[in-house]
Amino acid sequence: MTEKELVRIAAEAKKNAYAPYSGFRVGAALVSGTGKIYTGANVENASHGAACCAERTAVFKAVSEGEREFVSIAIASDSDEYIFPCGICRQVLSEFANDHMKIICSKNNGEYKVYTLEELLPNAFRKRR
Ligand code: THU
Repeated sequence: MTEKELVRIAAEAKKNAYAPYSGFRVGAALVSGTGKIYTGANVENASHGAACCAERTAVFKAVSEGEREFVSIAIASDSDEYIFPCGICRQVLSEFANDHMKIICSKNNGEYKVYTLEELLPNAFRKRR
């Protein structure tokens, strides 16, 4: 699975976003340590604070299927600027990230930049293993 392909899968997952309040659709494609891909989209709510980002949707799907370690995640939106995971999603990713987890941030034209989670969330608070 190339990074480019993962971005395309995230863009496809974006089509299932439920974002009637913000109109901002986001998709994510998460690769687990077992090599499986889990997709996610943002799911909003009339009570706005109850919304869930695409990244966390993907993580929670995967963890609830038994996954515990992730190697990369691609994120896509309709924006012509790069999309980055929010602070809460960075923290949630850090709970299950392997040491070199890659965060692939894309623009709506498919261009992408790759970061490590450590770059986006240095000195993360972790309590495990
Ligand atoms: N959102 C995501 O799903 N992922 C991000 O990385 C940033 C923001 C969602 C949350 C909300 O549904 C909408 O985008 C607007 O903030």
